[in-house]
Parts: sequence; structure tokens; C-alpha cells
Amino acid sequence: MIDLKKIRAEFPIFSHHPKLVYLDNAATTHKPQSVITAISDFYQKENTNIHRGIYPLAAQTTQKYEQVRNKVAQFLNAPNSNNIVYTSGTTASTNLVAHSFLNTRLKKGDEVIISAMEHHANLIPWQMICKKNGANLSIIPMNKEGELDLVSFRKMISEKTKMVAIVHVSNSLGTVNPIEEIIEISHQKNIPVLVDAAQSVAHYPIDVQALDVDFLTFSGHKLFGPTGIGILYGKEQYLSAMHPYQFGGDMIKNVTFEETTFADVPQRFEAGTTNVAGVIGLGTAIDFVNQLDRRAIINYLNDLTLDATGKLLKINGLEIVGTAKNKSSIISFALRNIHPHDVATFLGTDHIAVRAGNHCTQPVMDYFNLPGTTRASFTIYNQPEEVDFLVEKIKEIQQFFS
Ligand code: ALA
Repeated sequence: MIDLKKIRAEFPIFSHHPKLVYLDNAATTHKPQSVITAISDFYQKENTNIHRGIYPLAAQTTQKYEQVRNKVAQFLNAPNSNNIVYTSGTTASTNLVAHSFLNTRLKKGDEVIISAMEHHANLIPWQMICKKNGANLSIIPMNKEGELDLVSFRKMISEKTKMVAIVHVSNSLGTVNPIEEIIEISHQKNIPVLVDAAQSVAHYPIDVQALDVDFLTFSGHKLFGPTGIGILYGKEQYLSAMHPYQFGGDMIKNVTFEETTFADVPQRFEAGTTNVAGVIGLGTAIDFVNQLDRRAIINYLNDLTLDATGKLLKINGLEIVGTAKNKSSIISFALRNIHPHDVATFLGTDHIAVRAGNHCTQPVMDYFNLPGTTRASFTIYNQPEEVDFLVEKIKEIQQFFS
């Protein structure tokens, strides 16, 4: 049994906003006190740069910073900490792979495959690199439930395909994609796969070796950690062959006016002063997640999402967008004749926080022919009463607009 009250009490946001019904966890999660304290302590008691100073305080910061890299490696079951690159977030991680890995490999007529439900952050970087190199961006289609068509994918993939980039859990539909199968199909043709784990990392334990995934990205702020820190996991064979695309301090071996040689992986991808406090906070967020009973949490959130789905579906004129068999704790919905921005604005007056709009997945909204949806996304501090309150308020909105 998980102690929901105890978990919720660890998040100070709810004591500052006792009425807050926070259902926007796909946008960002709140932070437990331990993470906030770790960041505050860092600035109050340490605050030195990494890899530069030799004095004890700086050495201590460098040590902690590198310990977090080990922690992230263990969290993902990566072979070692050199597989872990610190970035500013999922978007930066994807751009790094697009520029440093794919850009030099892509030739005219080649192809990158993504899916119909990608977040813009796992679409535009590939689109730009394809355009630059005269390559094509191909899209795995989906059905009306929001499930990918893997039969089409098997037919699309060819010797021209140079990369497959796929979202694990769709931020706008909630679909959990069969990444194991997608990786297996891609690897049969020796094509590397990047998995965008931004929405999945807080929910499901991820084992990069078991998945045999080539690259994996996520952000700290959706994992109860701070904003501005993210991770790129990459297989050693790929990372070590990649040329950096951002240049500056702390990523070099030797610099003259004529020539620069670069540091080893992963440091060569971490130019300039990185988000040191963010790394410390991320480490504490991982400690927080590691002490949870993750299996029990998955079951709890499945039940909560099923309960919410059942109750929402009973509302006349409400349509759930994204009805895949395998879904995470994200529910997008459309209310007949009411714009999602109006829904979110009204819910906001009752302290219910949801996201409304295209969720940075404009092609998904185009596919469903909608201007946007309203999205409720749940995590460990959400409670069944909050679902009931949401349902009650949606009914009131309908009455108001009728
Ligand atoms: N990608 C985040 C979301 O889905 C911001 O809301």
C-alpha cells in the first residue's frame, strides 16, 4: 500500500495553495521539499563551478556533480556514467543528436522516421536536419485511437532510413508506444533509434540495456526535479563518434588559434558552465523516485486514470481524444461546442490546473481536426477526489455554455 497522504505532504506547493487541483503534470511536476532544499543548500553552502577550481569547495561540487551522473546511469541501467550527457532538457538532447550524430550521416534521398504523434521537440529538429541535407522525413501513421501502425512502419523502413525517433508516451494522447518492438524492427536493419522518454521516465522504470535503445532523452522537471536540466543517454559507440556542435569552455583537450581538440565523452558535449544546481536537484529527485514503490504507483495511476476515463465518458458531449489500449495517466478531451481555452480558463477559476491547446503537437490536432484539447495529466500526489471535482466542474461549464 502506498501512503498517498505522506507522498502529497512532501510537496510544499500544496500547503501554499491548499485548493490547488494540479492536473498539469505532463507540463511539469511539482518538486518535493528534498529537491528544493538540495538546490537551496547548494547555493547557500557550496555554489562553486565544476571541473575548474582546485580548492576544496570546488572539488566537492565536482564530485557531487559526477556522482549524480553515476546515479542517472544506475537509474537508467546504463553501462556506465560516460553514457550520460547533461543537457538543458529533452529538447536540447534531441537537438544534440540531430546536429552531432545525424547531420554528418544524412545524404540526399536518405530518410528519418518519426511518428504521427511526436511532440514538436521530436519533430522539428529532424525536419530541419532533413531539409538541410535533402533528406525526407517519413511519418509512421496512427489510427483514430492514437495507436501507431507498425505494419506500415515495417514497410516504410529501408536502407535509406538513417534514424528512427519515437516518443515513448504521447504527451497529447497518453498512448504508450511499443518501443521494444519499434527498436527491434529498426535494429533488424541496423538503424539507430532515439526514444523520447520525457513523459514516461517518471512513470515507468527504464532499462536502456534491456531495451537496447541507442539514444534516450528526458527532462528533470517532469521527474520531480528542476527545470533547465535534462539527460541524453547514448550508446558509447555512437557518442564517441560524435562531433560536438556547441563549443566553449570545459569541452576541450587543447586549444590554439589554429586548432582545438575536444575532451572525451561526455564532457565534449557540455560546453560552458552547465546547470550545476540543476544536476544536484536532479540527483535528489532520482533519490525521491527511487524510494517509491514504483509498481504500486503504476497500479495506482492506472486505476486513477481508468476511474477518470469512466467518469468523463459519462458526460454527454465529451469526447476523449486518444483511446489507445495501452495508455499512461494522460487524458485529453474535447467538449462539444466549447473551446479548450474556455474550459481551462473556467477550471482555473476553481483552482483546477489543466493544459489546453495543441500541446506542442499541432499535427496531432490536425489529424483529429480539432483546434486543441483540454488535458488532465496525473501523478503520484493526485487523489481520487480531484477526479470527482474535475468531473463536477466540467458539467458546470457545460451548463454555463448551454
Ligand atoms: N511538453 C510539455 C507538455 O506536454 C510541456 O505540456
